[in-house]
Amino acid sequence: EKGGYDTYMLKEIYEQPQALTNTLIGRLHDETGEVNLDISLDPASFKRISIVACGTAYYASLVGEYLIEQLARIPVEVDVASEYRYRSPLVNENTLVIVVSQSGETIDTLEALKEAKKYGAKTLGVINAKGSSMTREVDDVLYIHAGPEIGVASTKAYTSMVSAMLLLALWLGRARGSLNAEKGAELLAAVRELPRLVEEALAPERVENITRIAEKYHQARDYLFLGRGVNAPTAFEGALKLKEISYIHAEAYASGEMKHGPIALIDEHLPVVVVATDSFLLEKTISNIQEVRARSGKVIAVVSDGDTEAARHADDVIFVPRADEMVSPVVNAVAMQLLAYHTATALNRDVDKPRNLAKSVTVE
Ligand code: F6R
Repeated sequence: EKGGYDTYMLKEIYEQPQALTNTLIGRLHDETGEVNLDISLDPASFKRISIVACGTAYYASLVGEYLIEQLARIPVEVDVASEYRYRSPLVNENTLVIVVSQSGETIDTLEALKEAKKYGAKTLGVINAKGSSMTREVDDVLYIHAGPEIGVASTKAYTSMVSAMLLLALWLGRARGSLNAEKGAELLAAVRELPRLVEEALAPERVENITRIAEKYHQARDYLFLGRGVNAPTAFEGALKLKEISYIHAEAYASGEMKHGPIALIDEHLPVVVVATDSFLLEKTISNIQEVRARSGKVIAVVSDGDTEAARHADDVIFVPRADEMVSPVVNAVAMQLLAYHTATALNRDVDKPRNLAKSVTVE
């Protein structure tokens, strides 16, 4: 049942190229740069978007916020469902509320959805589980088609959710005229590359390198994760994965926030994972790396293949396949999953059944 893998989580990590293929299949039209999502909602019929989710799905939603705002120029807010449901949310028929969920059963997200419907919001679910409770409450569903996820720590559902967010941002951007056909086609080509890039990110020599780094730092008491822009959520997700399955305390910040407080944590015992892949802001990230090093922190940099400048400043480097910045959160997430997985394994943790956690949180 685990297909020869030690754990469901590892099996699901390696299923990602196939899961992503399934997320994308039939939805991309190269000639026109359009995406076909079979959504009946009129993309011109709302003025703002609220995305509501929990945990890993919340981090996928933060990537969605960035992508939709950049590509479709619609204001987007992202909320934690447990907060949203009790906040008398300011939504009406001009708002699209998107719920993002692997299980489709998370009680906070389900209740938040019902709350939004009371105010007349249009609703869309970005959901994995077919026929789940949320799919029956929303106006429209964009299935992520990741397949069943059994490991408690979400892996393939996350990368499929982020890919679904890319599709949604492209669809909205094209339909609302903020994304021209040329740029649309370029991004669509980058999205189409994702299954191949993730396959490459799982190459044995890359996994060996990450395993070595995980073992080197597995005794650390704390970890810090930094990333910015579309990859700030990659840092948040990396910290969550590490906490969930290794029980190492981990914090994550948007890189620019470091000097506003968390920099006080840095000493020679603190590994700091910095997402430093190709970006229009890479220079600034390299400055952050230097700031961490100047305080004796140990930098584990996630760097695009061939980027010697970013790599030069780090103690350890995780090279990942080079990707368009907009799609890079999907590729970078794989490095985060592997780092968490091999750290947990070095600590002999039961990764498929982490303590205190349930796969689906259906009670409040
Ligand atoms: C993290 C994890 C949880 C879930 C969260 C939402 O690895 O699995 O944080 O992401 O409980 O679950 P869904 O997506 O089913 O609503």
